[in-house]
Amino acid sequence: MATKHIFITAILLSSISLVLGHSVQKSEMYPLVVSTWPFVDAVRAAWRAVDGGSSAVEAVVEGCSACEELRCDGTVGPGGSPDENGETTIDAMVMDGSTMEVGAIAAMRYVKDGIRAANLVMRHTKHTMLVGEKASEFAISMGLPGPMNLTSPESVEKWSKWKANGCLPNFRKNVVPQNGCGPYHLNDYFLLTAELQEGTCPGDDMLGSLPSSSSHVDVKNHDTISMAVIDQMGKIAVGTSTNGANFKIPGRVGDGPITGSSAYADTEVGACGATGDGDIMMRFLPCYQVVESMRLGMEPELAAKDAISRIARKYPDFVGAIFAVNKDGVHAGACHGWTFQYSVRTSAMKDVKVFTVLP
Ligand SMILES: *[C@@H]1O[C@H](CO)[C@@H](O)[C@H](O)[C@H]1NC(C)=O
Repeated sequence: MATKHIFITAILLSSISLVLGHSVQKSEMYPLVVSTWPFVDAVRAAWRAVDGGSSAVEAVVEGCSACEELRCDGTVGPGGSPDENGETTIDAMVMDGSTMEVGAIAAMRYVKDGIRAANLVMRHTKHTMLVGEKASEFAISMGLPGPMNLTSPESVEKWSKWKANGCLPNFRKNVVPQNGCGPYHLNDYFLLTAELQEGTCPGDDMLGSLPSSSSHVDVKNHDTISMAVIDQMGKIAVGTSTNGANFKIPGRVGDGPITGSSAYADTEVGACGATGDGDIMMRFLPCYQVVESMRLGMEPELAAKDAISRIARKYPDFVGAIFAVNKDGVHAGACHGWTFQYSVRTSAMKDVKVFTVLP
């Protein structure tokens, strides 16, 4: 226990020393790469690109793409997070913080290269987001490989176990069957509500209480790579990639491809990346909040904590985390409901450093 405490203190101290690193030469502050989770190889890939002179956007694409190929935690790239039908779909987004251009794809089927598809949307269309099978058609027409099978033996096994467990846990609420596989129907509560609207007046006890939906997000269920890069010119970009939540209802899109929720960048201010229960986090646009707070002068750490606490006030049980980095390269994290780790690489470091943030 004592050892653990010292270890954590050491991490906190190293993060403080970085915060105090304001006095270092500006040229030493970037390039810089920050990513959610210990996705060390993804950060190395982005670092190689940006250190070699690539733009922030190019480096973000390289970094997130590496995570897709490595299938980071099984929750990025192909072959992970089967939906209710056992299918894997891809969500991804890239944002250029200098032009405020964004490209995103959501619920994309049959194509594994999420961040590259998002980048094609940004670079070769005037749109911001394409979804579903039409996103797949676009990606393939622009040269990405596909259509291909995104299911893996691991995702088949995960899905089979879930089916055998009565399709639990799932994301349904106020339906019958409540504890089983579909097809699902509206439950009695809504039938009663309909009757109420027609003037019937059932007793209080008939309304009963709504079944509470339990949160089943955990460290292996909702991981997203969210990455920020400051390039040698000081320009900032962010990118995300995920295959979403396990056993999601087909068609579900989380925070991953939503600008301002999973990530946001403004070269004039800084950047933010988020991970966690996307269904809840996307209601608050926490990364937009973080960047705007920093614009008004808030330090990254306070900005990140503030954005997390705004969500926690309404959803005390939500699980999520945020990193914030300002244009001077000062970075910090905040989390709720779980211990968060984020990875950083700067020219002052010999390799990627992983920072741990306690809730
Ligand atoms: C896709 O791959 C999975 C796992 O390897 C396999 O079980 C499934 O039959 C494949 N589907 C098609 C349509 O080829």
